[in-house]
Amino acid sequence: MKDAFFAERWFLAAFCLLPLALRGDPTAAPRAAVTFNKEIAPIIYRSCAPCHHSGESTPFNLITYDQVAKRARQIAEVTSLAIMPPWPPQSGGGYPELVGARRLRGAELDLIRRWVAEGANEGAPEDLPPAPQWSGEWQLGPPDLVVEMDRTYNLPAEGRDIYRCFVLRSPVTETRYVRAIEFRPESKAAHHVFIKTDRTRQSRLLDASEQNPGFPGLAAQSAVKPAGQFLTWQPGKGASISPAEMPWVLEPGTDLVLEAHLRPTGKIEPIRFKMGLYFTNRAPERTALTVLLASLMIDIPPGAANFPVESSFQLPVNCEALGVLPHCHFLGREVEGHAELPDGSRIPLLVITNWDFNWQGDYRFQTPVKLPQGAVLRMQITYDNSTNNARNPNVPPKRVRYGLQSTDEMAELSFLLLPQRAEDEKILETASSRHVTRILARHDEEETRENPMDAKARLNLGNTRLAQGRIEEAKVEIERAIELDPNLAQAHYYAGLIARVQKRLPDAEREFEISLRLNPSDGKTWGNLGLVQLGLGNLEGARHSLQRALEINPTDKIARGMLDQISK
Ligand code: HEC
Repeated sequence: MKDAFFAERWFLAAFCLLPLALRGDPTAAPRAAVTFNKEIAPIIYRSCAPCHHSGESTPFNLITYDQVAKRARQIAEVTSLAIMPPWPPQSGGGYPELVGARRLRGAELDLIRRWVAEGANEGAPEDLPPAPQWSGEWQLGPPDLVVEMDRTYNLPAEGRDIYRCFVLRSPVTETRYVRAIEFRPESKAAHHVFIKTDRTRQSRLLDASEQNPGFPGLAAQSAVKPAGQFLTWQPGKGASISPAEMPWVLEPGTDLVLEAHLRPTGKIEPIRFKMGLYFTNRAPERTALTVLLASLMIDIPPGAANFPVESSFQLPVNCEALGVLPHCHFLGREVEGHAELPDGSRIPLLVITNWDFNWQGDYRFQTPVKLPQGAVLRMQITYDNSTNNARNPNVPPKRVRYGLQSTDEMAELSFLLLPQRAEDEKILETASSRHVTRILARHDEEETRENPMDAKARLNLGNTRLAQGRIEEAKVEIERAIELDPNLAQAHYYAGLIARVQKRLPDAEREFEISLRLNPSDGKTWGNLGLVQLGLGNLEGARHSLQRALEINPTDKIARGMLDQISK
């Protein structure tokens, strides 16, 4: 008895002397302490340093022991909360693998946790692998063309984040097929950038109307995504490479527009964005189509913590989904997209459970996801308009509705879809544009019901009805808009279009002329006036109008063709 008692006491005493890490499992062999040089440096080099090194848009470097040890606790926290490395989409659980996914493995998270808990030891010098080097060179080798902002924008040192669009004027002089781009912010202040194209001169004119380079706003109204592409940049994003058979077409006269989110850094930041373009001689064989799931019927009451907005689209043909681009603003909390198949089964496509406006971007599926005809694409975005949402721009929370300002909300999930057969492209395109017009119509109808005396609401509904081919209804709305506000250039433009469609040419001419008196810089209106003047036999007037149209928009093919005909 006595021996047993002592034996037990002896065991307990020995156990108390064991290192902390062993207490949970007295049978395990003693584990060596985790060191920076042995276990942690390889994780940091691979998963953190690609962004956290000089020349990247990150606030500090994470390469050396000192740099990492200084922030050890914060690093344990941001990695365990999956805030770093930044990669909002969930992986696993049937969701498709995404190109460039950044995630730490469970074992790596454990090592970081243990390293910090044990006091962030440096370890033996001979264990340290060589640190990665960054040459500062272009990832894909020297670009075929480097385009750069021609003037520097100075971002103020302090204050709120700034959303500003910059224009890179017509970078090519002949049609080019772009197979890849690499965006270089050359500044720590850039947080995200959407790269778009503008064939009109509108972005350029807005740019010219401001003293500083660029113009304010989240988005440039006349800019569009290049066909079949999502071109976004965030810190750490490498080159955007298109599939070999799907380069995009950059025409001469087309401007590149960069919609940028800039974050003050504490000192004045010179912004001079730069982009490398890589061309190919291979014309695109196919072009993927963008199908937009969206709702404009957003009306989030203050305090609502879990407010869902939904949208869906039924595929008219067999497709492959190549990529996805989610978009909402600061109240967005969860973004979910999936396809529901005709047999009731479900293909998950994307879920982001902790949406962060600052880390938005596009995602490409590693393997295209096959979706059969009849499948329904569905999205749900959930908003948190309560005080619990630390990103809520309104304190106290306010009613928030659809709009383009960062304090408004949006709900969008765009898919890049490639119909299985090239001949189905037209069918998908028609269905998709009908779908978008329906989304617009619902919103515009609601707006005019709520604000029957609002000329802009009538104008929008008139425009949508025109797109739907409902000409008589369009006419009623546009006439009402003009009654409410005779100075809406856009309303007179639509009135002119309707008159043209209805073959009332003198009415059309009058409306286009009024519109141009109100806004002489609209190329479309000049072009349409030219066509109407031609129809009325006024050759001199037509020549003048078409020339004006081409001055404003040199890529206007119709105006060019008509002018060539008159000149013969
Ligand atoms: C894709 C680029 C990228 C990668 C990869 C990345 N970071 Fe970051 N990190 C950033 C940026 C940009 C910021 C600045 C804060 C922000 O914009 O969210 C940041 C901020 C941080 C912060 C400060 C957080 C705060 O709240 O201020 C820590 C700590 C951090 N990163 C640690 C890490 C660690 C550790 C890793 C690797 C496991 C890592 N980061 C990987 C881009 C990156």
